[in-house]
Amino acid sequence: MVKIIAHRGSSGRFPENTMTAFLEAKNAGADGIEMDVRFTKDQELVVIHDETVDRTTDGKGKVSEYNLTELKKLNAGARYPNYDKHETILTLKEYLDWASQTNLILNIELKYSEDTYTNYEADVLALLNNYDLGERLIISSFNPTGLQKIAKLAAHIKLGLLYSKKIKKPDLYIKKLGIGAIHPSKKITNQKLIKRAKNNEIPIRVYTINTEKEINKYLKMDCTAIITDFPDRALVLRKKQLF
Ligand code: G3P
Ligand code: MG
Repeated sequence: MVKIIAHRGSSGRFPENTMTAFLEAKNAGADGIEMDVRFTKDQELVVIHDETVDRTTDGKGKVSEYNLTELKKLNAGARYPNYDKHETILTLKEYLDWASQTNLILNIELKYSEDTYTNYEADVLALLNNYDLGERLIISSFNPTGLQKIAKLAAHIKLGLLYSKKIKKPDLYIKKLGIGAIHPSKKITNQKLIKRAKNNEIPIRVYTINTEKEINKYLKMDCTAIITDFPDRALVLRKKQLF
């Protein structure tokens, strides 16, 4: 059965990467949650997608130029249309304290920027070490070097390479890097790629699959998972296809 992973939580209906979006994804019955990690000026790990706070909060400027206490004052619900609730930006620890108590698949995407500090991956791993997430944990990134670092430091953790431009033989490419799965954009994903991945026993989780038409298409193509802003919609469609 194709797994349904909520992209930045239930971000189609609630402010992305917030506790509300994560709770709603769980309540909708999603199999998993994908979220994004960055770091503050004082090297605290936080849950936010963009390099700057501009698009999603009432603040301005780079995440990496805020100390955690300053960042915590921002409202991550501020830019969501017709939304009154104040949402704080979560630390990765706060997210994991909650998520570790669920049985959700936890897809943590590591975001990189030019100013990424040397111990970023090691800090993420040190924090993850406090939780027993086992097979539920997947770390993904567009940055193969970052993933390689993690593979070296913690060989047991499942890794997924995100990409949006065609790779000729993705199965061979990721094998060389010590990465176990692919997370391609839908733009470059077709039945052939899914078949090839499956034949090579490589999990393939496709993003971002949102419309009814797309969801039905990728459910039928039987990829490992779809990553969607609308887990509630995907769940209804999956149920329909199963019966
Ligand atoms: O992990 C899938 C997807 O989140 C990758 O792209 O930009 O939404 O983080 P982005
Ligand atoms: Mg992401």
